[in-house]
Amino acid sequence: MATQYPGCGMLGAMAALSGNPLPPPRDASQPYRVCFVCLGNICRSPMAEAVLRAKAAAAGLDGRVAVDSAGTGDWHVGQRMNPGARTQLAKRGYDGDAHRARQFDASWLAGRDLVLAMDSSNLASLRRVARDDPDHRVRLFGEVTGLGGTDVPDPYGGDPGEFARVLDLLESGMTRLVSQLSELLGMPAAER
Ligand code: 4NP
Repeated sequence: MATQYPGCGMLGAMAALSGNPLPPPRDASQPYRVCFVCLGNICRSPMAEAVLRAKAAAAGLDGRVAVDSAGTGDWHVGQRMNPGARTQLAKRGYDGDAHRARQFDASWLAGRDLVLAMDSSNLASLRRVARDDPDHRVRLFGEVTGLGGTDVPDPYGGDPGEFARVLDLLESGMTRLVSQLSELLGMPAAER
């Protein structure tokens, strides 16, 4: 039986029938809003934000997808991205300079179509904060993106290789996410 997406409308119904795991847009006239969430919002989730923004633009989804990120904790609120994360992003041509860390608030869920936790612990924290999630918009990045439910490991305090491996995982998952978004948002196959 096909997955049921409450209040999904035509776009969501088509996505569900095609096996697309993304929740339907809350408002199809608005950009689809994706928020990545990790613990501190200085390493993984802002890296994910930069990668999706770039890959969505490259796929012609500019203006159709809005991306942001947050942490479940408040320790780094207002800070720039961790230098290890910024260095790896810059090496591969992504821009993370404007990022300033924020903490996820329960009220944000109503303004997002999809909230992707970087690891299972972030997911558990998010579910405690965002208790009311009838459309199941809070998901694990490694599940939605076909990485087999893999956690994106916490690289904080790690060496450059750990940050590079995180970026490898994010790039690989994001390729899948962008193609799911293209399908969900009705991009012609030729442009996906
Ligand atoms: P992030 O990494 O969750 O990927 O931003 C961390 C950043 C800070 C801390 C832990 C993880 N911390 O314990 O302060």
